[in-house]
Amino acid sequence: MKQLIAANWKMHKTWEESIQTAREIVVGTYNQLPANREVLIIPSFPHLKAVSDVLAKQKNYFLGAQNLYPALKGAFTGEVSPAQLLDVGCSYVLVGHSERRHVLQEQDEFLAQKASFALEQGLKVIFCIGETIEQRQQGRTKEVLRSQLELGLKDVQKVDSEDLVIAYEPVWAIGTGQVAQEQDILDAHAFIREFLQKTFSGAEEVRILYGGSVKPANASSILALDNVDGVLVGGASLTAESFNQIILA
Ligand code: PGA
Repeated sequence: MKQLIAANWKMHKTWEESIQTAREIVVGTYNQLPANREVLIIPSFPHLKAVSDVLAKQKNYFLGAQNLYPALKGAFTGEVSPAQLLDVGCSYVLVGHSERRHVLQEQDEFLAQKASFALEQGLKVIFCIGETIEQRQQGRTKEVLRSQLELGLKDVQKVDSEDLVIAYEPVWAIGTGQVAQEQDILDAHAFIREFLQKTFSGAEEVRILYGGSVKPANASSILALDNVDGVLVGGASLTAESFNQIILA
């Protein structure tokens, strides 16, 4: 199983900047990319095609989208279908990112529809979960993770383990500079692995990423932890200078 090093650019960058950064990432890492790693770039919708062209034919470099709508096509103004994402070269899509849950108020039921539909349509899904600081302080972290997994993956009956990725991103660690303690990451990832094993066959091969204030300085120690199969990086993925250090960490 290869580790996945993913860049979530959120609502950042101009067209030119997306192309430029993607190029710098490929050029700066291609020859040294460790054999057990894959790179994923997740730009905003308008830049998908341009970044796709940069990544085309680069083995081990993939394109992802930040969102999808769970329908084939139709009158859904402002939404984007899995077929449209596949058409511009996406192989991955994020579902349930903390900002979709907390800023855009997306609920478990809707996320469940997105996850199962995206998988059915042939996209790989990075399903994001994580507790808020209040939930952690109340000792509810595992309960929250279990509920997000149970409700969000309830319609996923059978999955090719390569197609499902879980990202554990404690809400309080995202964009705050406050990375989770190693023991907290180990505990959460072991808990997620156990849930997956009980739910899906072949769950050993489902990758579990950590996200939340991953930086060049902490990436290699996080990537060395048990059950950490990659990282999902926001702020530190915006420049090739820092993201490349994480890819090569
Ligand atoms: P961050 O974001 O690396 O800026 O904390 C991570 C994420 O939102 O996926």
